[in-house]
Amino acid sequence: MNGASSLLAPIAKRLAGKVALITGGASGIGESTARLFAKHGAKVIIADVQDELGFSVSQDKSINGAISYVHCDVTSESDVQNAVNTAVSKHGKLDIMFNNAGCTGQNKASILDHEEKDYKSVFDVNVLGSFLGAKHAAKVMIPAKRGTILFTSSCASQSHGLASHSYTASKHAVVGLTKNLCVELGQYGIRVNCISPYGAATPIFLKGMGIDKKEKAEEILSSAANLKGPVLEAGDLAEAALFLASEESKYVSGLNLVVDGGYSATNVAFTQTIQKFFT
Ligand SMILES: NC(=O)c1ccc[n+]([C@@H]2O[C@H](COP(=O)([O-])OP(=O)(O)OC[C@H]3O[C@@H](n4cnc5c(N)ncnc54)[C@H](O)[C@@H]3O)[C@@H](O)[C@H]2O)c1
Repeated sequence: MNGASSLLAPIAKRLAGKVALITGGASGIGESTARLFAKHGAKVIIADVQDELGFSVSQDKSINGAISYVHCDVTSESDVQNAVNTAVSKHGKLDIMFNNAGCTGQNKASILDHEEKDYKSVFDVNVLGSFLGAKHAAKVMIPAKRGTILFTSSCASQSHGLASHSYTASKHAVVGLTKNLCVELGQYGIRVNCISPYGAATPIFLKGMGIDKKEKAEEILSSAANLKGPVLEAGDLAEAALFLASEESKYVSGLNLVVDGGYSATNVAFTQTIQKFFT
């Protein structure tokens, strides 16, 4: 193939014929992933509590009806079961379950200010919601002897003191769930992985930081980042999810794919302290 015709070649559809369910799919990382999966030939159901937003994503003409929306509060087992049933009754199967819905709760720095009800609500969405998604997906994937389950954890599973105790602990729990499930479900040909993003300026991040402008959030994130130049966006995490959902990662299971530009490899405290003393 010469250069000009390869430029015109259609993109390879890496999820042709696949059916995916994405929680938290009305916004941010979930929405970007839904759009990318649809572009790669998947039928996608997005499950969220933001009905208006979810419907508007599904109505977008550019995706040709490949995405549909179902109301689902991930803390409710019957809602999660209904979302999985919707995928199966609409498309006959479920290949990819992306447990991505999440919340930060109140961003209290000190444990002394942390309220029990806030801790419980963060765990309900981030951990129980992920657990229920995996459980109901496994119910249909085990008899099919295939499937892939993904979770969104966070760089808070690798770097500490960045987020609240409840959020950090909940995202560690998601990594634990990933690895434990990978062991149980491997015998059925089901792969289980998670993604741990550095900050991306989505609504959850803006709310957590108390910032109203995406540009301001990106400026702060870039200034604190290890990798200078590129700015992490929801679409980059969608690409990570595409890799883990597709055949390109057919032997990858139990992985926490950290997408943080090397942030968790650094500890700048010593260098910063030295600089402070010598300037
Ligand atoms: N953006 C970041 O900086 C960042 C970093 C690390 C991890 N994460 C994780 O990424 C995931 C997606 O977040 P995002 O950045 O796309 O933010 P977002 O706010 O754009 O999306 C989160 C989505 O989850 C949905 N949701 C919340 N509670 C729910 C519930 N009970 N049931 C169903 N849906 C619910 C929200 O309605 C929203 O659509 C979350 O798990 C978050 O913790 C985000």
